[in-house]
Amino acid sequence: MPRILVTGGAGFIGSHVADLFLARGFDVSVVDDLSSGKRENLPSKARFHEIGVNSKEFAQLVRDERFDVVAHLAGQIDVRKSVADPVVDATINILGTLNLMEAVRQSGAKTRVVFTSTGGVLYGDFNKPPNVETYPKDPESPYAIAKLSVEYYLAYYGRVHQQDAVAVRFGNVYGPRQDPHGEAGVVAIFSGRILSNRPLTIFGDGLQTRDYVYVGDVARAVWLAATKPLPEKGRLDARAFNIGTGEGTSVLEIAKLLQATARTVVPLEFAPRRPGEQQESFVDPGKAREILGWVPEIALADGLAKSFAWFARENSGAAT
Ligand SMILES: NC(=O)c1ccc[n+]([C@@H]2O[C@H](COP(=O)([O-])OP(=O)(O)OC[C@H]3O[C@@H](n4cnc5c(N)ncnc54)[C@H](O)[C@@H]3O)[C@@H](O)[C@H]2O)c1
Repeated sequence: MPRILVTGGAGFIGSHVADLFLARGFDVSVVDDLSSGKRENLPSKARFHEIGVNSKEFAQLVRDERFDVVAHLAGQIDVRKSVADPVVDATINILGTLNLMEAVRQSGAKTRVVFTSTGGVLYGDFNKPPNVETYPKDPESPYAIAKLSVEYYLAYYGRVHQQDAVAVRFGNVYGPRQDPHGEAGVVAIFSGRILSNRPLTIFGDGLQTRDYVYVGDVARAVWLAATKPLPEKGRLDARAFNIGTGEGTSVLEIAKLLQATARTVVPLEFAPRRPGEQQESFVDPGKAREILGWVPEIALADGLAKSFAWFARENSGAAT
């Protein structure tokens, strides 16, 4: 039975990844420090290690277990927190990943590492979307700088140590179990507000676009990245894949679709645009289609309906 370690497997995306690999016959272990993840997200059939990715115990586990795959999703995910404290962000997101890569190197195992990067904020505001993997990157936050730094390290580990790693650059992931503080938090936040019949706050004109991609589609992308043959390693972007729909959707459109799903109307409140917020961001997923055979399968209206139904059931999971 092939074996996978999912770091961050008690979190939003990681728990869907763990579920999918279990369903496809993998033996699944999870590492999570439960800093934002929840025990109830953990699949019952997964082995669980409550440890941090910067710890010696984590490195020891990776060295001892010699997993076939590590899907690395554990991390500090809040862009604003990374601005407030870049040291904490880099400690978890860069040094935690180096702890993993060094443990894999020391183990001598042929572990494939799937790193969850960002297509949402990696490219910055200087390109005309849809962003292609090879476009110039001018990240505007310490969070995105950390993701790009890790991608350079992965290229180095491929070039110098022949380690097997791949980066999946997600758009704005939404769906059941979503954390309101992540990159696509607006779906969770608006759902919570609609459920408690409160106004939706729109920052700026509401026309800013994001590439909203359903969590089930994203988990399938991790599966394909973990199991498919990949291009030659060793260069930045060579083994990076945008995972998004290729379409930008405005915040106003998300507000409209969620209200249609809920069959209710709540007032919209406009607030000043937030400094540093990108106006347009969506990715070209053509490379994932060609090389991984990945295409998004869940249309936005359907994905939002599934998500809203989940938030309605688990009202406590929705944000204020
Ligand atoms: N949600 C998105 O739209 C999006 C977009 C692009 C990239 N990503 C990336 O995908 C990954 C998963 O994000 P998510 O949205 O599921 O967030 P999440 O917060 O739900 O999941 C992250 C998990 O990592 C755990 N964690 C945090 N720090 C840890 C540490 N030091 N040691 C061990 N575990 C730790 C948390 O407890 C949590 O369970 C992250 O790396 C994130 O940067 C997410």
